[in-house]
Amino acid sequence: MFLWQYLTPVLLVILQTCKARKCATFTDLNFGHAFFGTTLKIRLLLYTRESIDCGTLMSHTNLSAHPHFNLSNPTTFIIHGYRPTGSPPIWVKKLTQLLLHRKDMNVILVDWNHGAANLNYLKSVENTKKAAANLTAFIKNMEEHGASLSSIHMIGVSLGAHISGFVGTNLNGTIGRITALDPAGPQFKGNPPNERLDPTDAQFVDVLHTDIDALGFREPLGHIDFYANGGTDQPGCPKTIFSGGAYFKCDHQRSVLLYIESVNRTCSSTAYPCSSYKDFLDGDCVSCDQFGAAGCPVFGYDVVRWKDILVRLGQTKAYFSTTAKTPFCMTNYLLDVMVWNKDERSGYITAKLHYNGTEAVASINHKASKFREYTETKMLAQVGKNIQSVEKMSLKFSNGNTCSPKYKLRVLRIRLTNLEHEQRPLCRYDLLLKDNEEVTFRPIPCEESNF
Ligand SMILES: *[C@@H]1O[C@H](CO)[C@@H](O)[C@H](O)[C@H]1NC(C)=O
Ligand SMILES: *[C@@H]1O[C@H](CO)[C@@H](O)[C@H](O)[C@H]1NC(C)=O
Ligand SMILES: *[C@@H]1O[C@H](CO)[C@@H](O)[C@H](O)[C@H]1NC(C)=O
Ligand SMILES: *[C@@H]1O[C@H](CO)[C@@H](O)[C@H](O)[C@H]1NC(C)=O
Ligand SMILES: *[C@@H]1O[C@H](CO)[C@@H](O)[C@H](O)[C@H]1NC(C)=O
Ligand SMILES: *[C@@H]1O[C@H](CO)[C@@H](O)[C@H](O)[C@H]1NC(C)=O
Repeated sequence: MFLWQYLTPVLLVILQTCKARKCATFTDLNFGHAFFGTTLKIRLLLYTRESIDCGTLMSHTNLSAHPHFNLSNPTTFIIHGYRPTGSPPIWVKKLTQLLLHRKDMNVILVDWNHGAANLNYLKSVENTKKAAANLTAFIKNMEEHGASLSSIHMIGVSLGAHISGFVGTNLNGTIGRITALDPAGPQFKGNPPNERLDPTDAQFVDVLHTDIDALGFREPLGHIDFYANGGTDQPGCPKTIFSGGAYFKCDHQRSVLLYIESVNRTCSSTAYPCSSYKDFLDGDCVSCDQFGAAGCPVFGYDVVRWKDILVRLGQTKAYFSTTAKTPFCMTNYLLDVMVWNKDERSGYITAKLHYNGTEAVASINHKASKFREYTETKMLAQVGKNIQSVEKMSLKFSNGNTCSPKYKLRVLRIRLTNLEHEQRPLCRYDLLLKDNEEVTFRPIPCEESNF
């Protein structure tokens, strides 16, 4: 009796541990494996709403062995990329949880760590086609058991993006969707479409680029290609090699972090179709007319809402900016200024928006703007805050050249338009901006005729 009192909790703990051990986890390899190289092995880990935190190792052939694997539900495959050190990817758990939170589905984590962990990148690249052949057989098996290919979504990171593309090719583009997160560039650049991801690989292919100058792919690969912060350098990522490993992977890995926020709907990043990031920052690409009432596409999981129009358009490149930290979103404003100075003036405008007792500095692409009499000069002003209502604005004009005479900007009208929310633009009429002197004022809703 006495003994039992003490033994029962101990037994319970042992029982719990055994239960926990039944969860299949991602293969954890070490640097030694990567050093000597690994041969391809594919493990499929199933997660469903019945087992959000506990993976089940699936049979490749016997699909009825898993009672929670409901083939009437959509299935999302998550496919990681190159793992030079063999460690498990830290982001998969969060992504799996958030996907299951959004929709009742099967999430299958494709663990090809044996095959991706190799100091020799080329060996991992070689394995992508083999991995794709293996997954193709599995998906065909799913189809034979009643799954619909159009309800399959593959989320591929880096090399995983091209694996998804190869699976898509093998299935003649019938799978529903491929999302590519910073698809790998090295060894895929310049390849013909069937040797890399391309828009014919699925009914809808959406791509995010975050590291096009190193590990990622520069050219568009999908129906829509998002370039976060231009796709090259991500804010908050180290710019020098002295920061160690993060220098190599921070930009590349940011793609997954941005996508995770979009699955969670923490905030939204509207992306603007444009031919270059520079043109976008210059405020030349703020029109969303081609998308009608839907407006410009929002980056991430929910971009599927724009599927029909994006497929009709063929291929679209779209740009957005982010902050350095989660949840990463920025709000875009168009600032336009009309002056009545007789002579052309050139210089820089800086702006702050005051709201709810605080202020946010707007980032404006700092090339010198030109101001001509009675002509609108447009600037994109980006703020890393979601501002409900702008109470005051501070503006400063500087001609950027300490040697030249101090000009004044005689502003006829300044107008601030929130590009993402249907709000009446805010205006200020008749304002004198002296060189390097900040002016703070309370803008008013613009007059109708001035919209
Ligand atoms: C896929 O890979 C797994 C493990 O690596 C293996 O058991 C299975 O037979 C493979 N399937 C095919 C069709 O090659
Ligand atoms: C598949 O798995 C189920 C459940 O574990 C089992 O009853 C069945 O015999 C298996 N089928 C084959 C062909 O192995
Ligand atoms: C499988 O999913 C379908 C559709 O979501 C649902 O109607 C059905 O009840 C599910 N089957 C099981 C065994 O849970
Ligand atoms: C894809 O198309 C080829 C050639 O038309 C055909 O042989 C093959 O069966 C198709 N595969 C699928 C999965 O539809
Ligand atoms: C998801 O959103 C909730 C608020 O809706 C927030 O509290 C949480 O931190 C977010 N999670 C992630 C991973 O961003
Ligand atoms: C405004 O600020 C107060 C306190 O600083 C805060 O409690 C409130 O939630 C804020 N309102 C909005 C809409 O952000």
